[in-house]
Amino acid sequence: MPSVFIKTYGCQMNERDSEAVAAQLVAKGYTLASSETGADVILLNTCSVRDAAEQKAIGKMQNLAAEIRRGRPEVVLGFMGCMAQSRGQQLIDKLPDVDLVLGTQKFHRTAEYLDEILAGRREKVVDVAEEEGSEATIREHVVNGNSVAKSISAFVSIMQGCNQYCTFCIVPYTRGEERSRTIPDIVAECRELAARGVREITLLGQIVTSYGKREIPVVAGKSAFVQLLEAVHEIAGVERIRFTSPHPKGYGDDLVEAYGRLPKLVESAHIPVQSGSDRMLKLMHRGYTRERYLGIIEKLRRVQPGMGITTDIIVGFPGETEEDFAETLSLARAVEFDNAYIFKYSPRKDTPAASLPEQLPREVKEERNARLLATINEIGARHYEGYVGRCTQILVEGPSRKNSARLMGRTRSNKIVVFDGAERHRGQLMDVRITRAGSFTLYGDPAIIEVD
Ligand code: 5AD
Repeated sequence: MPSVFIKTYGCQMNERDSEAVAAQLVAKGYTLASSETGADVILLNTCSVRDAAEQKAIGKMQNLAAEIRRGRPEVVLGFMGCMAQSRGQQLIDKLPDVDLVLGTQKFHRTAEYLDEILAGRREKVVDVAEEEGSEATIREHVVNGNSVAKSISAFVSIMQGCNQYCTFCIVPYTRGEERSRTIPDIVAECRELAARGVREITLLGQIVTSYGKREIPVVAGKSAFVQLLEAVHEIAGVERIRFTSPHPKGYGDDLVEAYGRLPKLVESAHIPVQSGSDRMLKLMHRGYTRERYLGIIEKLRRVQPGMGITTDIIVGFPGETEEDFAETLSLARAVEFDNAYIFKYSPRKDTPAASLPEQLPREVKEERNARLLATINEIGARHYEGYVGRCTQILVEGPSRKNSARLMGRTRSNKIVVFDGAERHRGQLMDVRITRAGSFTLYGDPAIIEVD
């Protein structure tokens, strides 16, 4: 049977989509290749959030065409995901070696199209159409596949698309309108994962706090998303629940209160802020102010003082002045983020911000990026140092990525802890004493001496 290699760019949603495609292909008899050398099919699952991500995937495809395809003309090359969706046929016009271009609502058709191409029934396939119900097709997993860690912690896609239309963002165009799966469907998938040894579920979507807004009515003040959290919380075997990415406007009192009431909902949140300046937030069409964002963080910390908060920040949005940027720096200090992903603004096709007049030069974006990074690193280091000497619970995921002789787990607040442990610890909740803090990593010793 043909072997397939999938390379993933971008976010966790993309990782999850790739995994679902891999599971689908394995079910159809394909094998998963561990590298592109020798694979019969090579798929690039792409990201469009910034131009750099698109250029990386295009460059990779050019290399594959030059290096792999030249020696083995029968190899099938494909693009899928966000860039496939936004560029469609253009990708084949630009790169004639590409055989398959598969949009974000078509992942479940990968096997069908590959079969046709491999059998010679079709030469090229481009499918970027919308498909009703496609949000419910990302449900199969490869558990105990290539990645051991994934069998303890799994991603579950709960919705697709976004209706927020932030002026910088291409996602509403690449992922489409918000569409949510049903609670019973999601719960059934989580149950199957728990039965296969998964202990931690991360609920995924482009804007998870808008989950089920149109389809599922508010019950007793609880939004559809909080109802979903409660339903997943009921599942025996699931020990921890996380989600990403929410929108700040989704942190109503029902969600804040859920952190105090649902012990499996760990005290960690990735809440993209994008900017600390009200003027920028308005131009970005974010729908909240700096004060409202800070208010949410305060409420969350009142319920869970140990809440670990991470964020996304864009520097160099059109018209951002030094004063606006200073507001972002001061917000980062006020919130004390554990970590932040910093993005240099990149104009995206057909988004309103791309045609704003005051686009900033690259040097300004780079300089602000460096200054913000230094601030984030300093705050992060302080946070991590604060753990030294403390005992904390971790869920053990498997071997540490950097040193496979050691194990790694995560605290409830989502910090990585590396420690000396044994295979029997995998999947366990255990207490460790933190002995040292490195760069965004903690090192620990099991807190209790265990007797075998
Ligand atoms: N330029 C730079 N960063 C962007 N992001 C989204 N669109 C852009 C863009 N045009 C960032 C946001 C978002 C993260 C996933 O990517 O910070 O939260």
